[in-house]
Amino acid sequence: MAIRKFSEKKLTAEVLYRIRKSKNPRLKQVMTGFIKHMHAFVREVKPTQEEWFKGIQFLTDTGHWSTGKRQEFILLSDTLGVSMLVDALNYKASAGATQSTVLGPFHREQAPEYPLGASISKNATDGEPCLVSGSVRDATGRPVAGAKLDVWEGGADGLYDSQKGDEMNLRGVFRADAQGRFHFRCVTPSFYPVPNDGPVGRMLVATGRHPMRPPHLHFWITAVGYRPLITHLFAKGGKYLDSDAVFGVKPELIIDFKKGKDGIATASHDFVLMPEGVKRKKKK
Ligand code: BEZ
Ligand code: FE
Repeated sequence: MAIRKFSEKKLTAEVLYRIRKSKNPRLKQVMTGFIKHMHAFVREVKPTQEEWFKGIQFLTDTGHWSTGKRQEFILLSDTLGVSMLVDALNYKASAGATQSTVLGPFHREQAPEYPLGASISKNATDGEPCLVSGSVRDATGRPVAGAKLDVWEGGADGLYDSQKGDEMNLRGVFRADAQGRFHFRCVTPSFYPVPNDGPVGRMLVATGRHPMRPPHLHFWITAVGYRPLITHLFAKGGKYLDSDAVFGVKPELIIDFKKGKDGIATASHDFVLMPEGVKRKKKK
């Protein structure tokens, strides 16, 4: 068989032709998009061989920095806005429903379950005391009794428990009561940097960016019959709300953490879940 002359122009089509027999149609679609965009990227940027190798070294480093406790690829996706884009495409909050935001790398399975009113903070040095309350409802205002609220946050030192050791702290699971209400104690959220001592940190510096996230408290709320909601509550007036390193801020999620005369801050929010299986109509 005659060997076809190499053609820079036809190379993309040739690669796409090679994957034509992919058995899984979704994989074929994903690979087609990936190949097309990668080729278009290279045609646009025209990297030198040295630059291309640098890119490969960067991704290799990103892999080497990833462990069970440190996921540098998630961090890369987060800091490039890709995680928020994937979330935006998949979780389209209907009118009145609570907006979602990025999960981040610090959620842990099997956080301790506490009774309502308990504190997720184990040490007096964790930060300033704060009381968070609210409810979980559906869009018609009906309480979601027994909703599970998995909450986690960093301490005043800007670190999550997993960055310091194995002990669980500043995280816990609560169950909403029969009226869908919840309350628990924690520490007033502080701003902090995303892990920035690895390749993603170098990328941030090289592109003139800071690694900071504004003060926030994480929530993962689940209930039978409802779509899981992964979100944060951001502290109004907090630093970096306008330049979150992972693009996670949505104005609807910014609330007051008001410090009372007793030195305890309070914050309250009513979460609205979407029923499972209901897809929002596409805009025409
Ligand atoms: C976080 O909020 O825990 C987080 C999110 C994305 C990247 C790093 C940290
Ligand atoms: Fe966080």
